[in-house]
Amino acid sequence: MSERQTLAVFPSLRGQRVFVTGGGTGIGAAIVTAFAEQGAQVAFVDVAAPESAALAGHIESLGYGPVWWRCCDVRDVAALQHFIAEAEKELGAFSTLVNNVARDDRHTLESVTPEYWDERMAVNQRPAFFAIQSVVPGMRLLGGGSIVNLGSTGWQSKGSGYPCYAVAKSSVNGLTRGLADTLGADRIRINTVSPGWVMTQRQITMWLNDEGEADIQRNQCLPDKLQPSDVARMVLFLASADGAMCTAQEFKVDAGWN
Ligand SMILES: NC(=O)c1ccc[n+]([C@@H]2O[C@H](COP(=O)([O-])OP(=O)(O)OC[C@H]3O[C@@H](n4cnc5c(N)ncnc54)[C@H](O)[C@@H]3O)[C@@H](O)[C@H]2O)c1
Repeated sequence: MSERQTLAVFPSLRGQRVFVTGGGTGIGAAIVTAFAEQGAQVAFVDVAAPESAALAGHIESLGYGPVWWRCCDVRDVAALQHFIAEAEKELGAFSTLVNNVARDDRHTLESVTPEYWDERMAVNQRPAFFAIQSVVPGMRLLGGGSIVNLGSTGWQSKGSGYPCYAVAKSSVNGLTRGLADTLGADRIRINTVSPGWVMTQRQITMWLNDEGEADIQRNQCLPDKLQPSDVARMVLFLASADGAMCTAQEFKVDAGWN
């Protein structure tokens, strides 16, 4: 068995309640699955209803779950906060929040209007702050918690073609650093996990080509392509008691690209 297939079990995650934004496909789906496999109670929101239903059904068919999920467009802050409150009422306070939702649509400098800018921030930046606002009172009652914000290494390696996305993702480090001290007093930890280029179905279908394959080989230190589960494993660690004294940090899972 290769080292990659030997996954850790975190006893402290069993029975923990976890909320994930954008959990229906891609890295979010890997995170939802990984927590369910650890025996955690997972709740998620996503705008992709058929994919989300299929994911929840698949996890439950494996004997994990039940998985709580709702179709929600996170650009609607009131809806996002409503669903977090509903999940909390049904399941209890969340000890972990994973701010995963994003959408790396391409655009040029010239094409961006103020409306498009606001829309990009409404998907890629704003939901994390307001999800944190919603879960923190419950975490305080629990005596602590863990918030994981998905950042990116794309802007750090000067990735082009998505300047608004780059602005939003670079601000994730500011969100983490800007709240760590405030939340730390209540033993709520907050960290950024920044993936490299992860081979989700969307990335493979939309952006991976021969040039991209060559970039991976040239820039990564490790030869294997990053998988969504590679990112999920770091998120599990930060949510678990094993990560108890980690806060205010950025953890890169990028095979050494940056
Ligand atoms: N895949 C990569 O290579 C990569 C690299 C760096 C950072 N990241 C970050 O990792 C996280 C996950 O990335 P991913 O590649 O899985 O993203 P993705 O775009 O494949 O998936 C994000 C999920 O969010 C959902 N979603 C999109 N818009 C939504 C909306 N308005 N409301 C509700 N749900 C919505 C999608 O349906 C999808 O399930 C993101 O924060 C992303 O910025 C990914």
